[in-house]
Amino acid sequence: MRAKTYAEPQHACCTGTLDNCKACKEKHNCLMLREQLAFYNRLGVSQIDDNTDADTLTNIKYLWQDSTRTKKYDPSWNYAEDNTRGYTHPIHPYPAMMIPQVAGRLIDLYAKPKAVVLDPFCGSGSVLLEAFIRGYDSYGIDINPLSLLISKVKTTPINYKQLQNGLENILEKVSTTKKINNPAFFNIDFWFKPRVVSKLASLRAAIDLIRDKKIRDFFKVVFSFTARVSSNTRNGEFKLYRIDEEKLNDFNPPVIEIFKARAEQNINAMAELWEEFKEKEAQVNILNEDTRYRTSIKDGVVNIVVTSPPYGDSKTTVAYGQFSRLSLQWLGFNGQSLDTDNRSLGGRLNINNLHLGYSSPNLRYSVDLISRIDKKRARDVMAFYIDLNKCFVELNRVTKRGGFLCMVVGNRTVKGIQLPTDEIVADFGEHVGFRHIETIIRKIPNKRMPSKNSPTNKTGVLGATMTEEYIVIMERIK
Ligand SMILES: C[S@@+](CC[C@H](N)C(=O)[O-])C[C@H]1O[C@@H](n2cnc3c(N)ncnc32)[C@H](O)[C@@H]1O
Repeated sequence: MRAKTYAEPQHACCTGTLDNCKACKEKHNCLMLREQLAFYNRLGVSQIDDNTDADTLTNIKYLWQDSTRTKKYDPSWNYAEDNTRGYTHPIHPYPAMMIPQVAGRLIDLYAKPKAVVLDPFCGSGSVLLEAFIRGYDSYGIDINPLSLLISKVKTTPINYKQLQNGLENILEKVSTTKKINNPAFFNIDFWFKPRVVSKLASLRAAIDLIRDKKIRDFFKVVFSFTARVSSNTRNGEFKLYRIDEEKLNDFNPPVIEIFKARAEQNINAMAELWEEFKEKEAQVNILNEDTRYRTSIKDGVVNIVVTSPPYGDSKTTVAYGQFSRLSLQWLGFNGQSLDTDNRSLGGRLNINNLHLGYSSPNLRYSVDLISRIDKKRARDVMAFYIDLNKCFVELNRVTKRGGFLCMVVGNRTVKGIQLPTDEIVADFGEHVGFRHIETIIRKIPNKRMPSKNSPTNKTGVLGATMTEEYIVIMERIK
């Protein structure tokens, strides 16, 4: 059965659900409801009401097909065969890293001379390094202390000869020091074998003796990698899963060798950066702040934002906090610093009303569809986007008029409904004063993403994650 045809609304009047409007108490006369129904009409789907079955709902996957925004797939953005590990880019793994080619090309396309670049979700600092090597000043914001440490080290050229000396000193200290007190953080024995704990403790103590902060931080990054690889966590997972009990018996990581090999690798990477860019004077400002709120960046100082926000709440997508927790505990962080997942977008917001009169029709439609299958999941989705929307207010404040916002997003699927995040962020941007220019679609051959996620949110039920991402480009006009 085709949907009933309703008149196109002239404007949205109030907040409402498809069934009845909370504000005007109207059923089909509420303009916002009519807008929503008109949307379903355009999709050509059957009348949607409380009796519509999940299969029908999940068949409505491609909400963005309704879009009139300029959007194209451009294979020249795939970089499937390119080396993504130049300079200090590969010093430490991080979930969902942006490849340097994408960050660099966006900066080359939209940054004018003397531009200031911002990445408000800077992660491991890929955008900041690409800005730095081009000589642009930049700001990077993140709530995860591990991200800030990696970003800082990645963008700070250090004379590699000093690093070679530093490594020799560390290895000597480790081999000569007799006994170091082991740290005692929560569950340390669950995640590390006793022999590993004592080796890591001696490395950590030797690093602490380094006086120069830049060099000390460099080795903290190497240490973080070593702790991660030597822990009882399963390989290739961003979340914390312990190695199976029977495999754990045979797991004996050579901690000092891992540290040494990684340090040498990172020193070589740093040598490349040092040789080419030791004279670069571009400033990299790394801020331990929260992009949802007013940051310390002054009004209108940013000319170009290049960023990839989290894909969704950390419970069901990438858990940056879990990924970083063991490293951070070893590095002495505690309390709120370990709480990245709750402080991440959508981490803590409790949404009671799913039908807020929100600045994105695409969000309303897709959350409405999900809520018909699973109200709780719909609330989680809404919480994430409400937080993301707050960030747009801040991005508009710090971006200069005529400046650009380039946001790389993925359209994940929840309960079988694809969320058109590229359209949603364009809606958010337009609402606060940006103009959409174009959206480029690229395939993601080499981005580190979990190969599967759990769209149903049931343990063990996996579905494919995204194979493409969207580069949404906007200009600040108001
Ligand atoms: C997709 S990752 C960025 C990856 C980065 N482009 C790279 O190449 O490594 C998203 C980042 O957003 C950060 N984040 C989440 N919520 C945030 C918030 N409210 N304010 C600032 N950063 C946040 C996470 O800690 C994570 O590092």
